[in-house]
Order: sequence, then C-alpha cells, then structure tokens
Amino acid sequence: MDNSKNSTTIRFFEGGDIPIEQHKVRIVQKLFLRPIEERLEAITKAGNNTFLLSTKDVFLDMLTDSGTNAMSDNQVAAMMQADDAYAGSQSYVRLEESILEVFNKKYFLPVHQGRAAENIISKVFIKPGDIIPMNYHFTTTKEHIMINGGTVEEIYFDEAITIKTDNPFKGNLDIRKLQALIDKHGPEKIPFIRLEASTNLIGGQPFSMQNMRDVKKVADKYKIFLLLDASLIGENAYFIKKREPEYKNASIAKILKDMCDICDLVYFSSRKVSSTRGGGIATNRIDLFDKMKDLVPLFEGFFTYGGMSIREVEAMAVGLRETTDETVIAQSPEFIKFAVETLDKAGVPVVMPAGGLGCHIDAKGFLSHVPQKEYPAGALASAFYLISGVRGMERGTISSIRDPQGSDILADVELLRLAFPRRVFTLSQVLYTIDRMKWLYKNRNLVGGLKFYEEPPVLRFFAGKLSPTSDWQKKLVAKFRQDFGDSL
Ligand code: F0G
Repeated sequence: MDNSKNSTTIRFFEGGDIPIEQHKVRIVQKLFLRPIEERLEAITKAGNNTFLLSTKDVFLDMLTDSGTNAMSDNQVAAMMQADDAYAGSQSYVRLEESILEVFNKKYFLPVHQGRAAENIISKVFIKPGDIIPMNYHFTTTKEHIMINGGTVEEIYFDEAITIKTDNPFKGNLDIRKLQALIDKHGPEKIPFIRLEASTNLIGGQPFSMQNMRDVKKVADKYKIFLLLDASLIGENAYFIKKREPEYKNASIAKILKDMCDICDLVYFSSRKVSSTRGGGIATNRIDLFDKMKDLVPLFEGFFTYGGMSIREVEAMAVGLRETTDETVIAQSPEFIKFAVETLDKAGVPVVMPAGGLGCHIDAKGFLSHVPQKEYPAGALASAFYLISGVRGMERGTISSIRDPQGSDILADVELLRLAFPRRVFTLSQVLYTIDRMKWLYKNRNLVGGLKFYEEPPVLRFFAGKLSPTSDWQKKLVAKFRQDFGDSL
C-alpha cells in the first residue's frame, strides 16, 4: 500500500486542501457557550488562570490533549473485556504484547501517568550534581530532575526558539553543544541524555531520525544511555514521514520502531500517546529495568497494573496500536497546520512551522506592548478565553520558576497553546477559534498584563492566581459587544 495516500488532507473541487475528518462521531457531549459577561466573572474567579476554570464555563477546551483525546470504538469495546486482577491480569499480557509490537521493547513497567515514570527514572538514575542534557525540558520533568539534585541543560539549536522559521526539525538536539557539555562536565556526571518527541514547550516541534542517530552515536561513545520521552511520539513520527525524505514512503509503524530502536529507555504519558490515561517505561535493557522495577509496587501499584485501572490497561493496548494508523495520528497535526497557516496569513504571530499538540500563538509578538514580567502569555490566555470561551494554556513565564533571589526566570518563549486533542473538534469549531483570534489580534492594544496575588512555590502555573494590571478586561468586553452585538 502506498502510505503517502493515507493523509487526512483532501483536495476540494473549488480549490484548497482541506483536512477532513476520517472518523464519524457516535458519542457526543453537549457544550455551552456562555455570554461574555459570564465569562468575565468566571475568569476573574479563576484568578485569570485557565487551569482554575470550571468546564461548565468553557466552550472549546483546548487546555491540553492530556487525557482528552477521543477514544475509538475499539478501545471502548476492549475495556469491557478487562480481566480485573491484582496480579497476573491477562489485560496486562495484552498490553505487553502491544508495547512489543509498537515500540519493539520487551520489558515494561506500567505507571499511573507520565510524571510517575519521571519520578522513578529520576530517583533511580540521578544523583546530586548530575547534569541531564536534553533538547528541551517539560515542566514536570524538570521538577523531578531538580528534586533529585540534578540540573537540566537544554541544548537546542537557536532556531528552536525562533517563532517563525522554515526549519522542519526545531526539536533537534545540537550535537556540538552536547559534545561541549560532556567535555566540560565529564561523562560520569551525565547519567542519560533525554530527547522529547514533538517537543512540547517550544510548540510541539519534532526532531529528525538523523538527529536521533547522531545523538545516539555520542551517547554510545561515552556509555551514556539515551532516554526518549515518547508522550507525543506518533506526531513526531508523522512529521518524520512528511519532512525527512528517507522516510517518505515508510509506514508510521516502521518509523515508530526505528525511533524506539535507537533509544535505550522509552517512557510516556498514555494520557497523550494512546488516548487513554496511564503511562509506562519500556526497554530492552534488563540492567536498566532491574534498577527501576522495585519502585513500581512502591509508588504505583503491582507490576501488572501500575496504578491504572485494568480497563485503562485494555484501552491502552488498543490505543497504542492505533498510533500506527496514519489517519489517527495525522488528524491533529493537519488541523493544527490549517489553523496555523490561516492565522499566519492574517498576520497573527504563530509558531511556524506548525507542530504537533496544538496551535501556539506567540504572545510576545501578539502583545508586544505588555512587558514580559507582566506575563503576556498568561494575559493572552485570559483575554482569549474571555472573548471566545476557548480555553488555552499559558506556556511562558508563569510556567517557569523564580531564581534563588526571587526574580522570575523569564521564559525563552511566551506562548498561548491551543491544544487540539485528537479527533475531538470539528473544522467549524476550528474556524470559530480562528475567527475570534483574528478579532482579538485586531483589538490587541486593549489587552494589558497580569500580576500574581497568590503564588504557590512549586508548579505555580497550576494553582496560582493573578489579577489584571488595569481595567483592560472591561474595555475588551465593551468592544466585543460593540462589534458582535448580542452574539455569544
Ligand atoms: N512529558 C511530556 C512531553 C508531556 O507533555 C507531559 C504532559 C508529561 C511528560 C507528563 O505526563 O501529564 O501524564 O504526568 N503534558 C501535559 C500537557 C500535562 O498538557 O502538555 P503526565
């Protein structure tokens, strides 16, 4: 079969390539779009933190794709055959088979979600003073590394944080910087190198297979193991197929296997990769497996469920296999590409090329009048919810931390992430999102900054509360009413 014909993008008679849904909707959830005045109350009560909104006040929930991807009929059916047992469940056997088939790894440790894998890996392999090189950090990864006394070193190419380029692989790790880091600290200080597929915090940007091979060569030379965060591996594989000529005609299944074969240890959040909940760690190296395995019953649950419900284990086994289906894995990236390219044409600053996970708006460019210490990405997330009912996520300085002196460590990029969970939204909902974003861009000068009034010391973006630096939200509501009349 020619896999290049598997794409979800269809050419229309009247012109244009349209990303078409290659699934039909058989179970639906009712949504409510509240009037803007009610949304102002809701976002004020939430301390302008979209994490603290209640879903009853949210129209399109684009906070994350974590645990919110649509499940397939086959996944739901599989849940019904769950072999509920504390130990030795046949559902777990099916999951192990799926891990071997998709990731080509024979040893597996189930955990309740991605960060639980990070906890175990960091506890086992990191000692105080260690350095962990990576293409880019993820919030929970960094905290786990730091709690165990390690330091994160991000060694990306400069273009990784350039908002708009035509670099197809902004998630690549810079090999020269890696070599310099090893020369400076010595390989004994570096227990592993971490690559994150579809690098989340820089806009869901992939790395290439060639880059993986180059990283592995250096890792092998110094006997450092290579760790892959595979939470968004399907999308990265899709980009490799689309953007790396060597893989043009390869199946997603083959690309996934090749990626996993390069790495010694693969961990993932199943809330993303298999459209379920849960997570896991997989390897072919018994030495690494043996070091970690005793922590699973201690922190997660017995080896054959790892803190997941057995129904979840069944759905995960099926969901992982579905990750090899190009029409499943292409749906989000193609919708994201459509949104990103339409917004770019309208002059809205967006991360380009389009990545996986979501459409990422460059808040520094969008709100160039809001100083970074007044959290432009947070302000944009708040303003966009207010004028649309669409909930995005701040991925900027609010998601960063303070230095030991108490000053904000300003993020490299200030992004509003509008996540596109797999097979959840329709194209008209995407069109609505684009329309409201264009309106906000036209009225961007009305948007002001935010300041903390409640700030937790750890992962402050989850529960922190902020207030507007002026009455800008009221002005935005008034302009909305003027332009849209009594429309919602
Ligand atoms: N690694 C990556 C790349 C992630 O994106 C996430 C979660 C994790 C690890 C942690 O996994 O949530 O199952 O514990 N990302 C979510 C997001 C939270 O919204 O991007 P988890």
